[in-house]
Amino acid sequence: MSTNPQAPSQTRSRYTVTAALPYTNGPIHIGHLAGVYVPADIYVRYLRLTHRDVAFVCGSDEHGVAIPMKAKKEGVTPEEIIDKYHSIIKKSFVDFGISFDNYSRTSAKIHHTTASDFFKKMYRQGDFLEETTAQLYDDEAQQFLADRFVIGTCPRCGYEEAYGDQCENCGSSLNATDLIHPKSTLTGTLPTLKETKHWFLPLDRYEDFLRDWILEQHKTDWKPNVYGQCKSWIDDGLKPRAVTRDLDWGIPVPVASAKGKVLYVWFDAPIGYVSSTKEWAEREGKDWEPYWKDKNTKLLHFIGKDNIVFHCIIFPSILKAMGDYILPENVPANEFLNLEGNKLSTSKNWAVWLHEYLVEFPDMQDVLRYTLTANAPETKDNDFTWKDFQARNNNELVAIFGNFVNRVVVLTNKYYEGVVPEPGAFNEVDQATLAKLRTFPQTLSASLDRYRFREASQELMNLARLGNKYLADEEPWKVIKQDEERVRTIMYVALQIVSALAVLSEPFLPFTAKKLSAILQLSSLDKETDWNDVSSRETLLPSGHNIGQASLLFRKIEDKEIQAQLDKLEATKKANATENKAIMPQKETITFDDFSKLDIRVGTIVEAEKMPKTKKLLVLKVDTGLDTRTIVSGIAESFSAEEIVGKKVSVLVNLAPRALRGVESEGMILMTENSDGKLVFVNPDEDAVGNGETIS
Ligand code: 2FM
Ligand code: ZN
Repeated sequence: MSTNPQAPSQTRSRYTVTAALPYTNGPIHIGHLAGVYVPADIYVRYLRLTHRDVAFVCGSDEHGVAIPMKAKKEGVTPEEIIDKYHSIIKKSFVDFGISFDNYSRTSAKIHHTTASDFFKKMYRQGDFLEETTAQLYDDEAQQFLADRFVIGTCPRCGYEEAYGDQCENCGSSLNATDLIHPKSTLTGTLPTLKETKHWFLPLDRYEDFLRDWILEQHKTDWKPNVYGQCKSWIDDGLKPRAVTRDLDWGIPVPVASAKGKVLYVWFDAPIGYVSSTKEWAEREGKDWEPYWKDKNTKLLHFIGKDNIVFHCIIFPSILKAMGDYILPENVPANEFLNLEGNKLSTSKNWAVWLHEYLVEFPDMQDVLRYTLTANAPETKDNDFTWKDFQARNNNELVAIFGNFVNRVVVLTNKYYEGVVPEPGAFNEVDQATLAKLRTFPQTLSASLDRYRFREASQELMNLARLGNKYLADEEPWKVIKQDEERVRTIMYVALQIVSALAVLSEPFLPFTAKKLSAILQLSSLDKETDWNDVSSRETLLPSGHNIGQASLLFRKIEDKEIQAQLDKLEATKKANATENKAIMPQKETITFDDFSKLDIRVGTIVEAEKMPKTKKLLVLKVDTGLDTRTIVSGIAESFSAEEIVGKKVSVLVNLAPRALRGVESEGMILMTENSDGKLVFVNPDEDAVGNGETIS
């Protein structure tokens, strides 16, 4: 197998492939791997095997408010936080075979210079609006509140824990002042408004460009989830976005009048791809510019769906403003991965952490890579379950791939002392099998070229299935008693399939491919085998070649190992429930008069339907005894519309009406959360009360 390009570099097509820079405020988990890094790595390994010239860059995202917040919580400096997680994350990537050409960090000098240069050039060109506006301010902490320093209700979907720059529920990018009921995450207080000067990127100026570039030129080749989000953004009307912040952690704004201000993390982070490329080029003695400025270079961003707006709208507008940069050819963003039915969460420790996985399943990186690819959240959110992990391993990797390879290697050693035999004449089955084998590079390429990694992983398994079936049908272990020449042919054909597996599995299962290549002693062949050789070469493993001894590629995973993982999650659930109960502090004391202002009545839900395009909202019609009114309630993740019609509920009826997603909501249904985090109704006693009765 070759990773050494044979064609001269000037004739090879060039790719710059980026993978989202992870924040260094925690380790990384399976969601990161499934959504971004495994697909990016498969793609890049495939490009390399097909002789493309690739720069695969990434790095740690070390600015933004999450870092100083975490540092404050842990009583350490921000530098200590970024150093700690940068090392952990970088090691996880190496451990899982994510083959970056360069893994940098945004605290690096080269990045500070590059990001400052971007800002300075755009500033000189008059690409920013300089405005003094009222921003949220925490009087107690004496600090402006932006991004993660403030949470509130998302004006688009009603999610009550949206951040000041983004709603993680609907993916909307927000300004802190857009939030309904904003609250400081530093002190829990209601922010006030205070004037401050900032620089804004007037996205509205880029609307025509974005409309043409995305909505016209990429209508068919971008994934529908990515295209759809961009379209809705553009159609909703683009507004200027502040690219600076009042913070003391980040890259100082390189303008004299901007003392104490830093670049917004989402301004500098994507520029980190450029800095990382520069760092790599410098180390390798290459020129970085063609990777970002040559019109023939294909730029690809691998990201999760929460990053779509930044990579498809904001960063391309910056690149466009810079004048001589290329734009992404594609942004194959994935949806989210859940874990055992619940959203992955760093703060709730609801995750499979990569460094912990390797302690529990040593040397089983490829099993996780394979499971996450076979079940990747490519078109919709998907669920990782430990049972599925076990099944993918035991029923596919062990029973099909590993079993086939092992039988062929063992029999070759047993019959021919490890020497690939000379085949006799091929019969029809042999010819059909070899012909089918030769179609695999193209079939796999067709999926990979369209970023369909799940499909590609199943095609790879089909190649192992082809081998398994061939061996099971031809039964060399029986034929050997009557026809030794026939067995030589069978084993020769089977060995060609094993050899193809060693080459074509490399992007998906790099550790296994390496092990298999060593077993087959591929490095002692005159010529290395690459992706397209599987189609075009007469033989992949010639007669007379010596292979090594068998060694198992995969091992079975026992039920008790899976149960241990499920028990661990159960313990996390319990710990979260206890912690939730323990940490809910009592709110500020109110007077009886305050309380008596609340008008809580018994009501009955008479109609319910899901609010389109939201995950959490149901639109209810509630008979309150006073009237039948509309109430929008964020309970759709806990209840279906059908199951709650007819339910008696407690309703706060004198809450000021407010519009959620264009529907006026006139009141609130009272809910509480059970120990599993599921919402439950605060029920009035079903028998004792009728609609309209007050609850006090
Ligand atoms: O969402 C995140 O984890 C961000 N740190 C991704 C940044 S991607 C890029 F722009 F750097
Ligand atoms: Zn939202």
